[in-house]
This record gives sequence, C-alpha cells and structure tokens, in this order.
Amino acid sequence: MSDRVIIFDTTLRDGEQALPASLSVREKLQIALMLERLGVDVIEAGFPVSSPGDFESVQLIAKEIKNSTVCGLSRALVKDIDACGQALGVAEQFRIHTFIATSDIHVGTKLRKSQDEVVDMAVKAIQHAKRYTDDVEFSCEDAGRTHIDYLCRMVESAINAGATTVNIPDTVGYTIPSEFGGIIHQLFNRVPNIDKAVISVHCHNDLGLAVANSLAAVENGARQVECTINGIGERAGNCSLEEIVMAMRTRESKLGYQTGINPQEISKSSKLVSQLCNMPVQANKAIVGANAFSHSSGIHQDGVLKGQNTYEIMTPESVGINKNNLNLTSRSGRHVIKHRLGELGYGADEYDLEEIYTAFLKLADKKGQVFDYDLEALLFFNQQKHED
Ligand code: KIV
Ligand code: ZN
Repeated sequence: MSDRVIIFDTTLRDGEQALPASLSVREKLQIALMLERLGVDVIEAGFPVSSPGDFESVQLIAKEIKNSTVCGLSRALVKDIDACGQALGVAEQFRIHTFIATSDIHVGTKLRKSQDEVVDMAVKAIQHAKRYTDDVEFSCEDAGRTHIDYLCRMVESAINAGATTVNIPDTVGYTIPSEFGGIIHQLFNRVPNIDKAVISVHCHNDLGLAVANSLAAVENGARQVECTINGIGERAGNCSLEEIVMAMRTRESKLGYQTGINPQEISKSSKLVSQLCNMPVQANKAIVGANAFSHSSGIHQDGVLKGQNTYEIMTPESVGINKNNLNLTSRSGRHVIKHRLGELGYGADEYDLEEIYTAFLKLADKKGQVFDYDLEALLFFNQQKHED
C-alpha cells in the first residue's frame, strides 16, 4: 500500500455550507486558486444542483483549475448527478461525489427506506455517474454510526458498481479514534474487493476529535482525508487541513505518510479563508492561530533563544509565517529583553540591563504586554539618567 495520502479539500462545499452567508462566485474562485497553489489533490467545489450560483461557481472553478481534480457533490439522484456532470464537464480532470446515508437512524428516520432499497439507490447512482467520468466517489453518510455488517455490504456493492473512492464519514463527529480506526480496520479485513478503491475518511469535529480520528483511519489503511482550511464546516466543523497535514509531516519519521501539500502556503490559505468567510481563527488554534508560534514565559523564551526546537516542534517559516513571537510580559526574563533590544539595534554597552529590567518589570505589571516602543522609551530614560 502506498504511503501517499490524498488531500481532498471540502472548504468550498462542507465549509461554505456552514457559513451564515454564501460566498460570491469570485470569492469561491479565489479560494480554489489558493487551494491549487497549496497543492490539494481534490477540490470539492460545491453542490451544483443546490442553486444556480453553486452550479456557476463549480463550472467556473472546473474551467480555471488545472492542477487539482475538481469535484462536485450530489445526492444519489439522477438530477443531482446530471447537474454535476454538466457543471464539471469543462474540467481537465473531474470527480463526481455521490452519497447516501447508511446508519439505521438515517435510513429509517430520514430516508424511510429499507436497507436493500438504499443499496440499490447507491449502486444506480454510481453507475449513472460513471457515464460522465471514471472518477466516482461514493460516501456512506453517517458511517460512524452504521452497523459494521451493513457498512461492509455497502462498501463492497459500491466498489462493484464502479466507485473508485469510497468515503467513510463520521458525519456527526461521534466516534473516538480507537473506534473509528477499528471501523477502517474491519473494512480492510472483511470487504473482499477493498483494494480496488481508495478508502477515504471525512470526520466532523463535534467532540474535537476530527483530526485524531482521521489520523487513526490513515494508520488503518485509509489513503484519502477530507478536510477544510481552518477546520470550518457544519456545526463544530471538519478535520482541519493544516492540522492533519502538519501532523503527518512533523511526525513523518514515526508515521511514514506523505502528502502533496506545499506547507509554506498554509498561513496564507488560512488568512484568505478566514477573511472571505468572515470567520476569525481562535488565537490558540494549532498551526495557524495567532499564538501558535508565540512564547510568553521567561523559561520558554530563554529556551527558544538558545535553540528554537526547545519549544517549537516545527518552524513558523515551514508554514509560511515569518517568525515566532516572544511576548514581552512580566514573565519575561533578562535574556529576551537583551535580545529584543539587540533586534531593535541597541548594543549591550548602550544601557544598564539590570536597571532596564527593573523598570521593564514595573511597567509590565501595570500594563500587561510591553511593546517595542515601550522598551525604547525605557531605554531612552535610562540613557538620560546616565547622562545627567
Ligand atoms: O458529513 C458528511 O457525511 C458529508 C457527506 C456528504 C460526505 O458531508
Ligand atoms: Zn460533512
């Protein structure tokens, strides 16, 4: 089995559908072009049957994107699949993604059909999608809560019908990593034709486990991860692209997986999606939050100044952030004050460090954070005192 994990980005579909207001066609194209630069393998551009605007944006993205596969979502219905085929037909490479729910609760309550009828609908949908393209993905919606016997049956039938990717979503973010990894493991043990398709996962974050569940799935054989920039998506969102990619990259020597993502584009992608979607990123968000490369305690600052990897497991530059940030607060020590003054162009012989540090602590206790201009003012007063 290959160690290459396909990154399928659904920011423009699952992410966008969760926004209070839709993005414009131009904004969606801007994000798609960014995703292409980022190196995602598959861009899920939208759900063409859902509105004329969505159809138009999927079509435009399909026309403009050359280096990623463009994908559209459809229910297991002929009219949805036809809309996908028409919107995507202009693309260099495209995928139709069709889905139907498989858990008892969805099959009985939402679809009100028998399990046999649902298998039949899935098979017919996949066969219909194959008229447009060889690249057909099928998703078992709510797979995380689906009985494993029925899930195995559905996956086997989907592959026999021609699905080249079979996606196992944890639609409601209910599973825990050992359990979700176990589902993928069982599929690989029990579905006889499993090696004829790529097994994909699509994890929601209702319990904050989307990235952990996706990683557990990869460790059990999944080779496509569906994710979004900044983890945006329905409710608590989806598996975050930057987190899963950097987890695999930072721990590559342990895990052994690679992706085609260019990590230096991560910070820019995060900022663009945050701005256009009007969704601020929490400061302590892994990889892209404002504090992800900030150090506050004196012990940490001293450590980072002596060797960056003392408290950083990846460099900010590796994800496209210029440099780390050492916050000047009452927890900071002399080492960081001297270092910052040096960065501002002041040599150690130009001031008395002990005096500056005492004044700095007084100020930090009053004001919380001390900025460069505060430090320069302290230095100025210290120099004045010595001149008088
Ligand atoms: O969460 C989900 O199950 C989905 C499917 C449509 C793939 O978004
Ligand atoms: Zn979803």
